[in-house]
Amino acid sequence: MINISRRTFVFSGMGLAGSCLLPRIVWAGTGQGQAEKQAWLQGGTALAPREQLQFDFGWRFAFGHGDDPGKDFGFGFGQGDFSKTGTFKIATDKFDDASWRALNLPHDWAVELPFVHDDKGDEDNRMVSHGYKPLGRRYPATSVGWYRRAFEIPQSDRGRRIWIEFDGAMRDVMLFVNGCFIGRHDDSYSSFRFDLTDFLNYGGKNYIVLRVDASFGDGWFYEGAGIYRHVWLTKTDPVHLGKWETIVRSSVKGDAATLALATLIENDGEHVANASLEWSIVDAAGRMVAQATSPAQAIAPHASADYRAEASVSQPALWSPDEPHLYTAIVKVIVDGKLRDAEQIPFGIRTAVFDPDRGFFLNGKPLKIQGTCNHQDHAGVGAALPDRLQAFRIAVLQSMGCNGVRTSHNMPTPEWVEACDRMGMLMMCETRQMSSNPSGLQQLETMVKRYRNSPSIIIWSIGNEEWVLQQGDMAPEGARIAGTMVERCHELDPTRVVSAAVNGDNEQGVSEALDIIGFNYHTDFPDAFHKKHPNKAVFGSETSSAISTRGEYVSDKTKNTVNSYDGVVDWGQTPEQWWNFYATREWMAGGFAWTGFDYRGEPTPYAWPSISSQFGIVDMCGFPKDYFYYYKAWWKKAPSLHVFPHWNWHGKEGQEISVWVYTNLDEVELLLNGKSLGSKKVPRLGHVEWKVAYAPGVIEARGSRNGQTVLTERRETTGPAQQLRLTADRMEIGADGQDVAMITVEALDANGRPVPTADNKLAFRITGAGQLIGVGNGDPNCLESDKEPRRSLFNGLAQVIVQSTDKAGAILVEAVEDGASAHALRNTSLVIRTKKVARKAIA
Ligand code: GAL
Repeated sequence: MINISRRTFVFSGMGLAGSCLLPRIVWAGTGQGQAEKQAWLQGGTALAPREQLQFDFGWRFAFGHGDDPGKDFGFGFGQGDFSKTGTFKIATDKFDDASWRALNLPHDWAVELPFVHDDKGDEDNRMVSHGYKPLGRRYPATSVGWYRRAFEIPQSDRGRRIWIEFDGAMRDVMLFVNGCFIGRHDDSYSSFRFDLTDFLNYGGKNYIVLRVDASFGDGWFYEGAGIYRHVWLTKTDPVHLGKWETIVRSSVKGDAATLALATLIENDGEHVANASLEWSIVDAAGRMVAQATSPAQAIAPHASADYRAEASVSQPALWSPDEPHLYTAIVKVIVDGKLRDAEQIPFGIRTAVFDPDRGFFLNGKPLKIQGTCNHQDHAGVGAALPDRLQAFRIAVLQSMGCNGVRTSHNMPTPEWVEACDRMGMLMMCETRQMSSNPSGLQQLETMVKRYRNSPSIIIWSIGNEEWVLQQGDMAPEGARIAGTMVERCHELDPTRVVSAAVNGDNEQGVSEALDIIGFNYHTDFPDAFHKKHPNKAVFGSETSSAISTRGEYVSDKTKNTVNSYDGVVDWGQTPEQWWNFYATREWMAGGFAWTGFDYRGEPTPYAWPSISSQFGIVDMCGFPKDYFYYYKAWWKKAPSLHVFPHWNWHGKEGQEISVWVYTNLDEVELLLNGKSLGSKKVPRLGHVEWKVAYAPGVIEARGSRNGQTVLTERRETTGPAQQLRLTADRMEIGADGQDVAMITVEALDANGRPVPTADNKLAFRITGAGQLIGVGNGDPNCLESDKEPRRSLFNGLAQVIVQSTDKAGAILVEAVEDGASAHALRNTSLVIRTKKVARKAIA
């Protein structure tokens, strides 16, 4: 509920952890409360009345061609492709795809391609920004991909509505089923679906084909290529709930929450349907906490009707980053006493307020946004992340005290939103195209409708750094375009503020339309803005852009490395600089640092052979850089202490080395080989540093509070690497063909100490109930394959991502030194167990 008191937006909590249809669980429709919930969570057993089947498995893939129809399966050879319905042979049994590659989705073919050194093009249109992969119209042989699969539809499905649903694909998709052209979609991030009901062969085989063209892009960062998110086949009764129409909005008063429930029923059948609704609200333990009904309405064939209801929850468990309590609303469609459709909507109850004088308040308590911006790709897998990786990445960010993420610069994948809801991460949810043209509004609407019940989302963002619309001649158009977008957000979701990431003074253009004001960089503007516009809440939509190479302490242009002490671009600020600004102004709601994770593309400040950014607080694998520990010290309450650099400076004996300590303790004493180099008081939100003449041995920092030593950290000069160590994030994963274990690879010296400079080339062998799906090492300049079972260590670390099969058992992961005849490193291995889990229902 929006409740605008003088200068304050009051936003009641709401939230669907994901979409109306998430988690994708088949609803059995029997029993109540815990038993009912259990039945859904087990999923896949009872198929009526709605099925949402995962359509990720059993695809075939082949490259087409952007220029030559002869290499594009004849597509576009003449001009007859769309002349008749049903004649598209590649999507019929007359086509043989035996030579196509078998694969499962999600799939990103860009990450599989070799790197190509090509710097041609203007600033916005260079391959460098997409990570030097051969994509674009100049690379027709690797820019078009075809996906094909056969599937059965039983006779018993006749009469149901059947949709194919895509969470997102990169980029221009044409879909064909059983020889018929079905439709197109052409942006890289928004979800889309097609109704296949009329086109299916009931009781037999069906063929689906997609031509995916990644020649065009939507961003200046790596975007992948192909069907890089999940696909679903959804079957419902002809009388069914509207897509992403179910809304749960809560308003909290005293110790109770009122839930405003709304949805829409569509009647695609041939008869009038007298449809009513039953609502059940279930808490996290599966207890029914409230119920409501919406009376029957007669819905004519091919018409729809809106439904409303109200329920109240006493003493609700509020959602917050510390305690991300979720509830589930279950909505059932009843026609003539029979259940016809149902969905479950996870949501959270919370209030969120942006106050121009006092910053952000969650559930009535001030909470600074300690945020990071993130793109969606990861080492080894590019844009096609297994679901589990979303949680892995959030946990990395949370471990440094990050409580908010901005989905820069696009609609996120549902699993990222779900993980934020579940794990307690605030979100600024951003659309890709800032425009009120049909495509821009469609992208925005899909995002808001799909995620508007998600408790993690506190801000909708209509775009990022739209230079032309922010100021200058086109500022009036900017204000109108933004005005239309903001209005549409308010219509679809009156409970949240709308903003944008603006790199400018926020005095004109798009900024005129925004509820709250986001500044990108430019700490020179906010103070003056706040004085002039005391009624507008302000936050840092994008800050920092500090750069550093993990484990490097010298900026070296010949090696494309950036030192880890104070690397920053000229428009940016170090963590210490920007956080000092934001943390010391009560009226600032906080901000989002650019970026949490390194990402492919935009390899600032160097280009080739840099293929990824260096902005990350952690690298592309999620391994912390030293800046991570600045945030950990000042974003988390627990005592924290980090001393750097490493202490392996062979050949630099006697030379001065800068030694820095990030800590939130009062004072630090530094010792070299047991000898004190003095103590220093730690400035609030700052760090302490020494210049130390290098001598091998031990550099030790002792941090104290109130005169008592609280934490000690040491860096030791290690011997040469002699053995390998593999450590998995989890020793047991689900045997569902999708779950992954994230394995850290390190080289150790004879005493078991990690060698921080090791760069050995390694090879991996994965056998048993799993397979390798990607490798990485966080080196922005590494041109090694992400998919081959080998990788060099980069400053002592590499990452191996192993995925289960659907058979329970054990995965043996072996690491050896690659190619070396005289193995300097002892081999090692690790066993990950995989256990049977309820698989999602599969088509
Ligand atoms: C910002 C932009 C980001 C990224 C960043 C690098 O201006 O919004 O996408 O390019 O700069 O510093």
